[in-house]
Amino acid sequence: MVDKSKLEVNFKKKIKELVEHNKNYYSKNRPKVSDSEYDILKKELIDLESKFPFLKSIGSVNKIVGATPSNDFKKIKHLSPMLSLSNAFNREDMIDFVKKVNKFLNFDKKNIELFCEPKIDGISATLVYEKGNLSKGLSRGDGTTGEDILLNLITISSIPKKIDPKKVPDLFEIRCEIYISKKDFLKIKDQFSNPRNAASGSLRQKDPRETKRIPLKYFAYGFGAVQPMIFSKQSEFLEKIKDLGFIVNPISREVKNIEEIEKIHQQIDDLRSSLDYDIDGLVFKVNDINFQKRLGNTSNSPRWAIAYKFSAEKASTRIKEITIQVGRTGAITPVARVEPVTVGGVVVSNATLHNEDEIIRKDIRVGDTIQIQRAGDVIPQVLSVDVSKRHKSSEKFKFPSKCLCGAETKKEINKTTKKLDAVRRCFKGYDCKFIAKEKLKHIVSKEAFNIDGFGKKVVDQFWNLNLINEPADIFKLDYKKIKNLEGWGDLSVSNLKKAIDKSKKITLDKFIYSIGIRHIGQENAKTIAAFFVSIKEFSKIYDLKIRKTMLKNLRELDGIGETQTISINNFFSINKNIKIIKNLIKQLSIENYFVENREGKFSNKKLMFTGGFKSISRSEAKSIVESNGGKVLGSISKKLDFLIVGDSKPTRKKIDKAKEMKIKIITEQEWNEILDS
Ligand code: IVH
Repeated sequence: MVDKSKLEVNFKKKIKELVEHNKNYYSKNRPKVSDSEYDILKKELIDLESKFPFLKSIGSVNKIVGATPSNDFKKIKHLSPMLSLSNAFNREDMIDFVKKVNKFLNFDKKNIELFCEPKIDGISATLVYEKGNLSKGLSRGDGTTGEDILLNLITISSIPKKIDPKKVPDLFEIRCEIYISKKDFLKIKDQFSNPRNAASGSLRQKDPRETKRIPLKYFAYGFGAVQPMIFSKQSEFLEKIKDLGFIVNPISREVKNIEEIEKIHQQIDDLRSSLDYDIDGLVFKVNDINFQKRLGNTSNSPRWAIAYKFSAEKASTRIKEITIQVGRTGAITPVARVEPVTVGGVVVSNATLHNEDEIIRKDIRVGDTIQIQRAGDVIPQVLSVDVSKRHKSSEKFKFPSKCLCGAETKKEINKTTKKLDAVRRCFKGYDCKFIAKEKLKHIVSKEAFNIDGFGKKVVDQFWNLNLINEPADIFKLDYKKIKNLEGWGDLSVSNLKKAIDKSKKITLDKFIYSIGIRHIGQENAKTIAAFFVSIKEFSKIYDLKIRKTMLKNLRELDGIGETQTISINNFFSINKNIKIIKNLIKQLSIENYFVENREGKFSNKKLMFTGGFKSISRSEAKSIVESNGGKVLGSISKKLDFLIVGDSKPTRKKIDKAKEMKIKIITEQEWNEILDS
C-alpha cells in the first residue's frame, strides 16, 4: 500500500525544485544544476505522474515547467532581409529623421506623411504565403537567415493558414510580432522574467505542443517579399490585411508634422500601462510605399522608418565609486558604481559616465547623489548631480591617466575636426588583457561570428579560467573540461560545440568585421571584402610594401577614407595582430565574398558624382546606382567608367582630371535619360 500523503509531499517538493531550476535557467540565466541532473529530476517526476495519476491534480510537470528552448531548427534564407530599426529618443531626433527623409527624397520642407504604430515588445516572425497557402514561418535569426518555426507559429489560431488566392499576391510575406499578453503572463510569471522571454521561450520549443501551452498572440505590422506589389501605402496595406483576417494593432494612425508626432507619442505613452501587451515606443514609417522603396535601407535598418522610444525611467541614487572600463578599441569609459536602485523594474548598480570631459562638465564626484536614467537595453546614464546633497569634504574626481593594464592612455587629435578627442585610449591592443577580453566578446557577438550561447558572461568565465586568450582558442576549446564547470552540462556543452563548429564557416566580410579593426564597421567590411574577394588576397595585406599599394586602392572605394586606411595600417603594423589573425584563419573556412551581381543599367560599372542634382539627392543617386548593379567610387581613378556631373556646383578639377584620363563624362540630363530609358 502506498502512502499517498508521503508521495504527495515528496512530489510537491520536487516540483518546487524543478520550478526553481527553471527560474535559474531561463530568467536568471544561471543554472545551479547540470542539464543532465535537471533531466533526471524531470523524468523522475514524469514517471511518478504516470505511475500515480492522482498527482496530476497537484500540478503536471509539463504544464508547470516549459521544455528547454531549442537552437536546433532548420535554417532558411529570408526572401528579403529582416532588418532592425534605428532609434529616436526625443523631439530633436525625430526632427532630424524627418529632415533626413526629406533630404534624401530631395523634398523641400515637405510635410511628408508618416504612419505611426506602437512598437510591440515581442519576438519578430515572418509568414510566407504562396498562392494563399501559408508555406513558411520563420524567426528573424540573424536577419538574413531565419529558423523554421512554422509548426510552432501555426499553433496560434488567429494566424490565417489559408487565404483566398484571388485576394492576395502569389507571393505574400507578412511580418509580425509575436507576444504574450500581460494577463496571460501573470499565469506563468514564475517561470520567466518578462513576457518577452516567455514568448521567445514558447516559440523556441522543439515540440509544438509545448508552444501551445503558453498562449501566444501576434500583431501583423509589415510585409517582406510581395509579388506582384499591389499596395501603395502602409495604412492601406494594414487595412487590407485586416480584411483578410490578420490581426493588426488598432491604435495606429497617420501623422504629418512634428507637433502631431509629439502629441501621439505623449498620448500613447499615457495609455501604455493600460494596454494588455508591452510596447517600448512608437514606430514612424513613411506612409508612401514608393517613397519607402526610394529611401531603401542602410546595412541594418530602413531609412524610411524609426522607433521613437518612450522616455526613460529615472531614479536617484549615490555614487559609491568611479572605476574605468576598457573597450575593445582601447577606449576608456568611466563607470559610476552606485547604491543599487530599481529603475523601471530592473536593479541598477552601474551607470556610464561616458568620458573624462563629461565628468568635468557635470563635475561628478564620488559620494555624489545623482539622478540616473535607463532607456531600454542601453546601459544606464547619469543625468545630473544634486550638489545640495554634496558633502563639504568632497573632492573633484581625478581621472586616471593609466589603463587598467598599467599602460599610459592618450587622447588623439580628431582628423576631421582637428580637436582633441573626448575619449582616452589604451593603445596596447592584444597586449592589454582588458582589451583582449573585449575583443573576444566582439568576435562571438551576433554581427560577427554569431555563436549561439557564447555570450559576454561565457567569455568572462572562460577567460578567467584561462580557457581562451586569443580568438583561435574559441575554436580549440576543451569541451571535457567545460562539462565539469559550474553552470554547464552535457546538453549545453553539446549545443555550444555545435554552435562553434557551425560558425567556423564564415564569409570574408564577416571575418573582416570580426577581427575588430577600429573604424571598420559592418558596411566598410563589406566594401573591403568586395575588393579582396578571397582571404588569400586579403592576407597579402600583412606585407608592408603590398599593403601600401592596397591601401591606396582601397582609398578609392566609397566610404573608405584616410581614417579607415590609417587604422588598417596601424592594425597590421603590429606583428602580434598578424600572428593572432593567422592563428585564427587556421581554424576557419573563410568563404569568398561575392557581391551579388545585380542586373541593371550600371551592371559592373564604376561611377562617381560631382555637383548636386536638381531632382534627387546624392544619397538617392548612390542608392540608384547600387540597385542598378553599379558601384560608386570616392575619387577619380583609371577604374572609373563614368563621371556624372550634376548641374549644381560641380568641381572643375574633377572634370578636368576625368577628361585627362579619358573617362566618359555624363551630364545631369544624360543621367536622367539613362534612368528613363
Ligand atoms: S517595422 C525593421 N513595426 O521591432 C523593419 N517593427 O527593431 C521594419 N516591431 O524586428 C520594422 N512592432 O520585430 C515594425 N509596428 C512595428 C513593430 C516592429 C514591433 C519590431 C520588429 C522589428 C523590430 C525592429
